[in-house]
Amino acid sequence: MTRAIKLMNDQTPMTDAPAAKATPTLPDAQVVTAVKHYTDRLFSFRVTRPASLRFRSGEFVMIGLMGDPDPKTGKQRPLLRAYSIASPSWDEELEFYSIKVQDGPLTSKLQHVQVGDEIILRPKPVGTLVHDALLPGKRLWFFSTGTGFAPFASLLRDPETYELYDQVIVTHTCRDVAELTYGADLIESINTDELLVELIGEENLAKLVYYPTTTREQSPKMGRITDLLKDGTVFKDLGIEDGLSAETDRAMVCGSMGLNVDIKEILESHGLEEGANSDPKHYVVEKAFVG
Ligand code: A2P
Repeated sequence: MTRAIKLMNDQTPMTDAPAAKATPTLPDAQVVTAVKHYTDRLFSFRVTRPASLRFRSGEFVMIGLMGDPDPKTGKQRPLLRAYSIASPSWDEELEFYSIKVQDGPLTSKLQHVQVGDEIILRPKPVGTLVHDALLPGKRLWFFSTGTGFAPFASLLRDPETYELYDQVIVTHTCRDVAELTYGADLIESINTDELLVELIGEENLAKLVYYPTTTREQSPKMGRITDLLKDGTVFKDLGIEDGLSAETDRAMVCGSMGLNVDIKEILESHGLEEGANSDPKHYVVEKAFVG
């Protein structure tokens, strides 16, 4: 039946066809391939990856949508924001994890994207949360709040992350348990998905420690990660006797402005110094992060 209908349509004279939808193809357009909503504040989506786009796990790109037409000129301009790529560099698609801000210029619209829609993606990846910006060390810490988990979702699926360290500790602080779901699902998939286990390697996965905390809803571990570091709870929980040191510990930080400032102070009080792509040191912070 389908085939008959198709043939019929193929033979339909063009003049009878409905007028084509007047959607101009966006510059640097990529097509949405999957969307998943976690809470009324959080969602993730996947898009096609430009064949020429190469990036290092942990980097970000500018993505967005066309803005509303200018009331005077009718011209539309792209509305772009920095988004960490949440998928690893080997993935054939790109994944993003986003906040939904009801009156936010971009995310108020972006939260409604559906499979088949187009988004704009400027293929110029940059960022500081890359292995090249850190000196060799023994323990790697990922400190995140909210959607700041995104670059770590990329790095945690990259075998190099584990090959460089003896232990990889990922902390994620959210308001409630539902907001931990994206990260918890990712950790679960890394440990159980056949393809990921094979790709990362069981020996490497044994190095992974997941430390989720909530601040506004009861969960097995309550409190801001900053407070849990300051009072020694994290070290006690993880059996780390000697605390943080510039000799052994490396850290990447991505989250709210408050987290960035507070973690910086804690890391520096233990002698760690901030690095950059051109000057690798003990820790790095993603300053382009908004959310
Ligand atoms: P809190 O509930 O105590 O504010 P948000 O959703 O507002 O981006 O926050 C995400 C998580 O980050 C929340 O659990 C929040 O805790 C926590 N948070 C906010 N500021 C800091 C900070 N300066 N240090 C550590 N965690 C923080």
